[in-house]
Amino acid sequence: MEPKKFWVRGFKSLRDVVIEFPTRLTVVIGPSGSGKTALAEAFDALRRGRFYENAAVGIEVWHEDCRVAYEVGGDKKAMVANCGADEAEEVVRAFLNSVAVIRDINWKAVRSLQPVAKEALLLPDASNFIPFLYTAAGGVVPEPLIEALRYVFPSISDMWFVDDGDMLVLKLAAENGVTLTQATMPSGVLKTLILETALMMRPTMVVVDEFENSLDPEAQQFLMDELRSRGVYAVLSTNSETVLDYVKTPQEVVVLRLVNGRTRAWRLGGEVEEMLKRHKLTLSELIYSGLLEPPVF
Ligand SMILES: Nc1ncnc2c1ncn2[C@@H]1O[C@H](COP(=O)(O)OP(=O)(O)OP(=O)(O)O)[C@@H](O)[C@H]1O
Ligand SMILES: [Mg+2]
Repeated sequence: MEPKKFWVRGFKSLRDVVIEFPTRLTVVIGPSGSGKTALAEAFDALRRGRFYENAAVGIEVWHEDCRVAYEVGGDKKAMVANCGADEAEEVVRAFLNSVAVIRDINWKAVRSLQPVAKEALLLPDASNFIPFLYTAAGGVVPEPLIEALRYVFPSISDMWFVDDGDMLVLKLAAENGVTLTQATMPSGVLKTLILETALMMRPTMVVVDEFENSLDPEAQQFLMDELRSRGVYAVLSTNSETVLDYVKTPQEVVVLRLVNGRTRAWRLGGEVEEMLKRHKLTLSELIYSGLLEPPVF
């Protein structure tokens, strides 16, 4: 299942924005107020099937020969497809049910002790992350998840749940003999866990707002490589140029700018590759240099 195009109209600064997916990984970079969070909110609204009146959010999804354009505005849904309505509906439902949106992580809730409860869906603010992982993994932290964490945090020796029949505690043992819980783990460990867990659920698409927050550069690079190696469609928003050093081609980057109160989106292309060669710069250096300001691209 492939998303081809995502669009938003009439929502905050997203008056009329279209994002296509020529690459599986998309880094959305833009300064404060350029519309990154609004994009993630729109994805979330699309997933839930409800948006604001006078606003619209839509996606085009292809599955085998079936091509569907699906749009939500207010509480209305519209669909145009080249296949039967039932099949088209099934394609959209299957796609959207497995979209993971992570935005505005509620650290206080993530770190709190929560009762053991069945949580089938990870909430966008990850507030139910610990019980969700417990449910999804059947009470045992999966070894591949620990392995992945160890890659970024080599001192982790083990992770496990303690369920005292009342409250759920995620424990982490480090090689230096220190034991941590969700309340005391560094945010970077928790965020890496949250993103790895979202990936473990085999999502059709992962949307992460403020991707770089709480993650050091090694973790950012590792997670971007993970997303690429799993072949999942991912949209990572950031206002940090550092993330650009981990993209594989400029085509993976969409730059947002606020122009007269409206978000404009530009996906970088071959011309940027040319500029990089000509100026012997990295992508982040090129952006810092100011050479890449609109209307250059
Ligand atoms: N009702 C509205 N109508 C028009 N524009 C709006 C409305 N509400 C918010 N905005 C604007 O929409 C933009 C959306 O900003 P958003 O929070 O998505 O930016 P961001 O890129 O996430 O910024 P940051 O990096 O600070 O998180 C802002 O410029 C804001 O002023
Ligand atoms: Mg934001």
